[in-house]
Amino acid sequence: MRLILLGAPGAGKGTQATFICQKYGIPQISTGDMLRAAVKAGTPLGLAAKQVMDAGGLVSDDIIIGLVKDRIAQPDCANGFLFDGFPRTIPQAEALREAGIKLDVVLEIDVPFEAIIERMSGRRVHPASGRTYHILYNPPKVPGKDDVTGEDLIQRDDDKEETVRKRLEVYATQTRPLVDYYRRWAEQDPTNAPRYRRISGLGTVEEITRRVFEALES
Ligand code: AP5
Ligand code: ZN
Repeated sequence: MRLILLGAPGAGKGTQATFICQKYGIPQISTGDMLRAAVKAGTPLGLAAKQVMDAGGLVSDDIIIGLVKDRIAQPDCANGFLFDGFPRTIPQAEALREAGIKLDVVLEIDVPFEAIIERMSGRRVHPASGRTYHILYNPPKVPGKDDVTGEDLIQRDDDKEETVRKRLEVYATQTRPLVDYYRRWAEQDPTNAPRYRRISGLGTVEEITRRVFEALES
């Protein structure tokens, strides 16, 4: 299975990616997690990316495309992979298409912007694994600690309300056009294009997971 999870910041891509990757035995490729790892490691890429991410902007297409191409060449991607937060611009989608990487599904998780700010303000993450919680909607077993390792959870630097608003604006202008891009392609060339599926991301995490699997298996 090769798929793209599409959706606004805070739509629940990372949360649902965990379940999908477990079920299909595929790696989660989150460009956001990869960039945060580079920031933490203090690499030149990380230093440059941090400023852009903290401002709610997008890292340049060339950098992202290079990162993703290297990642999918790794042996664990041979049986498929899940893209979370990539592609995020039309040029990124075109690069994927030009590289001849065939995809099975594009799954859009749709959540209205009003619901997103609340989700982001309560989000807590385990930086090493990318595991994501919410203080009210998806709480860890022990407050402030990761369920698997018991290590501390943190708040992401870009989850400040002002930055979230900027990220939503960037999503609306730069990423949402991908909805039409993949929908049209699926209509025009169903043999080569990935199937397009869209679900509502409103409801409990378990409800969304059910919708995700229904959509992926239809
Ligand atoms: P990235 O890490 O990809 O962030 P994002 O797309 O903005 O998405 P999020 O991770 O914020 O949200 P999510 O959909 O994964 O939601 P989650 O499951 O965590 O990117 C960060 C930055 O990196 C970008 O701004 C950009 O600068 C850069 N970048 C990354 N990729 C790039 C690219 N391809 N090109 C250029 N730049 C790039 O859920 C959110 C919260 O809601 C959690 O607390 C969760 O517990 C909770 N929640 C989940 N489901 C539910 C539910 N059903 N009900 C209630 N709460 C829920
Ligand atoms: Zn995420």
